[in-house]
Amino acid sequence: MEFYIGIDLGTSACKFLLVDETGKVHNTVTKEYPLSFPHPGWSEQDPAHWWRACCEGLPQLLAGVDAGQVAGIGVGGQMHGLVALDDQDRVLRPAILWNDGRTAAQVEYLNNTVGRDKLSAWTGNIAFAGFTAPKLLWMRQQEPDLFARIARIMLPKDYLVYRMTGVHATDFSDASGMLLLDVAHRRWSREMLELCGLTEAQMPRLFESYQPVGTLTPQAAGTLGLPAGVTVCAGAGDNAAAAIGTGTVGEGRCNISLGTSGTVFISSESFRVDPHNALHAFAHADGGYHLMGCMLSAASCNKWWMENILQDSDYAAAQAEITPDKLGRNHVFYLPYLMGERSPINDTNARATFLGMTMDTTRADMTQAMLEGVAFALRDSVEVARSLGLEIPRSTLCGGGSRSPLWRKILANVLGIPLDLPVTEQGPGYGAALLAMVACCGRRDSAAQVSREMLQVKETVEPDPALSALYQARYEEYRQIYPACKTLFANLAKGAV
Ligand code: XUL
Repeated sequence: MEFYIGIDLGTSACKFLLVDETGKVHNTVTKEYPLSFPHPGWSEQDPAHWWRACCEGLPQLLAGVDAGQVAGIGVGGQMHGLVALDDQDRVLRPAILWNDGRTAAQVEYLNNTVGRDKLSAWTGNIAFAGFTAPKLLWMRQQEPDLFARIARIMLPKDYLVYRMTGVHATDFSDASGMLLLDVAHRRWSREMLELCGLTEAQMPRLFESYQPVGTLTPQAAGTLGLPAGVTVCAGAGDNAAAAIGTGTVGEGRCNISLGTSGTVFISSESFRVDPHNALHAFAHADGGYHLMGCMLSAASCNKWWMENILQDSDYAAAQAEITPDKLGRNHVFYLPYLMGERSPINDTNARATFLGMTMDTTRADMTQAMLEGVAFALRDSVEVARSLGLEIPRSTLCGGGSRSPLWRKILANVLGIPLDLPVTEQGPGYGAALLAMVACCGRRDSAAQVSREMLQVKETVEPDPALSALYQARYEEYRQIYPACKTLFANLAKGAV
């Protein structure tokens, strides 16, 4: 039997999956690491922590298994993070992550001075605060000495691939989120590189996600407890990897990820741009493309509310208080913008808000509002896709938040569509293992084929028409809240209130 290792380099933890050639998951290990917020709205991580997680996690994953049976490794990772290396391949500064909001000025410059039309023509996308190009402009302005020492940039999961193989590589799905790739033509954008003061020599080599980039170096193999020569594929951004892990390939399939971030991912065979650029137009790990809406704080709202505010780690007990009769009838609303928001409003100033409490409001009402607010914000991206004429008759659902039966029910009814739950909710790690399988196995035709073959749905959550109608009315109210607060958020950010 051959094994494949899938790694999901997440924001709060790295997850490792050991998968056999039939797609069965044999073992999983999770290693957490810290996330630092050195200033309000900033978000950073030390790449050394990611590598340490691998060095500790992989030997544990392989306990009791003949490591000689491992054929390949694939990594799916948090997207957009800027990892900058010097000419000795040393990390120059902590990675600036996908949910970092420091680049409002650079985003404004890119979208309004350079212009959205140009950016969209060059890359298929406009600037959002978490994307990599605005971070490079920020670094050039704020840390010019460090910027001058950049020999190579890459994305978070590429750093792990580099540590494993010694190769500076990335894949098209993850590279799409840098705002440096001409996504339609799958090549670096000369215009964007020039604008950011970069040359192609500083960029990683581009691969399809399922292509092998190299093999484990003897040193990495020794550290990780694996034989040298194990194939490492290019891997993918976590959402594209999750899509591979949930059968979201080819034309018109949807996957929703309820993880730290919340994403709506719609696959397509050909390149397509949202004319308003509210949805990202990125390459897919199956060789095709996708449109994606990304909200910055999804399951992290639940973690923040339960652990930071309520100081309660019994999530199930808190949700048990939300009885079925309460669904669709809550008087409290919640805007989930703890880190500002990306899709579809692109507003770094937006903030989380509870609205509508009265003297009889309970803790359960507020927990429910938080779960519903995240579902409504995901619907905002689904509505953008629907406005483009895309039909979303159903979706798969993955990510840690999908473990909650209540949240799944709320989401299915807010969206009004059935949600299919794959056997493993760990979409990115599973998809990354499938990509490794394709990289190793000549007889597997394509990533799309493997993805479809391996999908096993364990449960479908059907919406209930009466409850969906109640949520439709609530959503109409919810969507008025952000426009009413937008100017206030901007003034608060300027310190003008
Ligand atoms: C997608 C995005 C997030 C991160 C989280 O554009 O920013 O989903 O990839 O890991």
